Formats: sequence, structure tokens, C-alpha cells
Amino acid sequence: MVTQAIIPLAGLGTRLLPLSSVIPKELLPINGKPNLEYILDECLQAGIKQFIFVVPKSRPSIKKYFFNDNFYKKILKKKKKDKRLKRVFKRLKKFQKMIKFVYQNKPEGTGHAVLQCKKYLKGTHFLMLLADDLIIKKNCSKEMISLHNKTKGSVIATRKVDRKTVSRWGILGFKNKSKNSFLINDVIEKPKLSEAPSNYAIIGRYILPMKILSVLKNQGKGKGGEIHITDAIKTLVKKNEKFYGNIFKGKYIDCGTLDGFVKSGLTISKYL
Ligand code: G1P
Repeated sequence: MVTQAIIPLAGLGTRLLPLSSVIPKELLPINGKPNLEYILDECLQAGIKQFIFVVPKSRPSIKKYFFNDNFYKKILKKKKKDKRLKRVFKRLKKFQKMIKFVYQNKPEGTGHAVLQCKKYLKGTHFLMLLADDLIIKKNCSKEMISLHNKTKGSVIATRKVDRKTVSRWGILGFKNKSKNSFLINDVIEKPKLSEAPSNYAIIGRYILPMKILSVLKNQGKGKGGEIHITDAIKTLVKKNEKFYGNIFKGKYIDCGTLDGFVKSGLTISKYL
């Protein structure tokens, strides 16, 4: 059973400056709700019981957002009948019970982020979600967990992207493709068009096997000097570990760029 979700939150958010210079990009509101809460809601609906947030020590606002009891208790004392406030506090209390923090002080990559979670991980597989990648309308994590339950393999969310943009993504090679999934036989982080095995890109959702931790431990830095989860996945795929691409049905919203972030509010409001 997949019940734990890692959420890396140590990225610099350079593409969202100047907004992200004062508010972590994951707390920027989209239609009145922080980006991060959309991700948490997707996980809750998919049956996740524990979140592991990977944050830099120098950015305390994410912890403060969820763990600020004294602040709420003071206001609630004065506004005892405020139903909305009560609901907000109750929701935060629910999240408090589920969240663990681990630290990554420099953005050293998704693989490095996973390694920091080692002390909390249990079971055979866990989920990882990149908060920049919102998927709405159809719960992608739920689809992936159901593919994992059927195949017992690892699962990566994927969609076709414009060929001209392959160097912006992790790109998958595959065989045995059906309408909604395929078996992955290669993966390359941000390849040149001439090296790309397809134009199916990794979108930020992964169900990963516990054994990826020992691969990561011995893995050197990859593109951009970071330890990429993509490189560890490639090592396992080459050892015939089963990884499936889940061609998700939901609508993808890229919130990692200013243009995407601005459009995200409009797109989400259309589907609410
Ligand atoms: C990361 C991953 C990449 C994936 C992308 C999806 O890249 O490294 O494989 O395709 O997320 O958004 P980043 O967006 O951090 O450059």
C-alpha cells in the first residue's frame, strides 16, 4: 500500500521572482488556495496518510503556515462564533498530524531530497509529488496508485509534450503501450531532441520503490550539478525493475513559471 508522500519544497522559485522572494512559491495562492494545498488534497483523496516535506531551514514560513496554533487560538478566543475560522483551524490541525519535516538547505535535486526522507520511509513504495505540477479534474495520484496495485511496479505520471520542448523535461522510452499506460525501458533527464527516446515527458508524480534509496546513495551529481531522481530511475530500469508510465487523464497546469502561474487561476476557476 502506498501511504506516504514526499513533497520537495526547497527549490529557489527563480522563475516566479519577485513573488517568491517573500513567499515560498508553493504558498502562492491560486484561486484563493495555496498551490501546496491542491497537492495535499489530491493526496488525501488518494489515501495518503503521511506527508514528508523537504524544506530549507532558512524558509520557516511553510512550517508556520501549518503549525501556528497560538496565533489561531488567540483569534478564536475573540471570535468564538466564526465558523469559517473554526473550519480553517480544524483543517490545519488535521494536516499537522500528517506532516513530517526533513531538511535540504540547498536545492541539490529531487534525488537528494528523497535521500533526506530515509528515516521516515517504510513499506515497499512511496509517492513523490512536485508541487509545481498541478493536475486537476481527475486525481492523478489515485490513478497511479491503482496502476501500482495492479502491477506491483513503480509508476511515473506522463503526458505527450511538444517535441520542441523535450529538453525541458525528463523523457521516457517505452514498450507495450496501451491507451493509458506503458512499460518504461529508458529515461533521460532533459535530453537534446536528437537523444530523446520519445516525446512522453515525466510530469511531477512518481511512485518509487524503496530500493531507489541505495541507488541514490551511490549516485554522483547529474545535469546542473544536482542529484536527479531521473538518473536513479534509469539505473533501476536498466536492471529490469518494472516502471510504468501512467498517461494521466486530468488537466495539467504548469505552475512553475510566471506565465503558467498567472494562467493557473483562470484555468482552475473554469473547472470549479
Ligand atoms: C523536474 C524533473 C523532470 C520533470 C519535471 C516535471 O524538472 O527533473 O524530469 O519532467 O520536473 O515538471 P524541473 O521542472 O525541476 O526542471
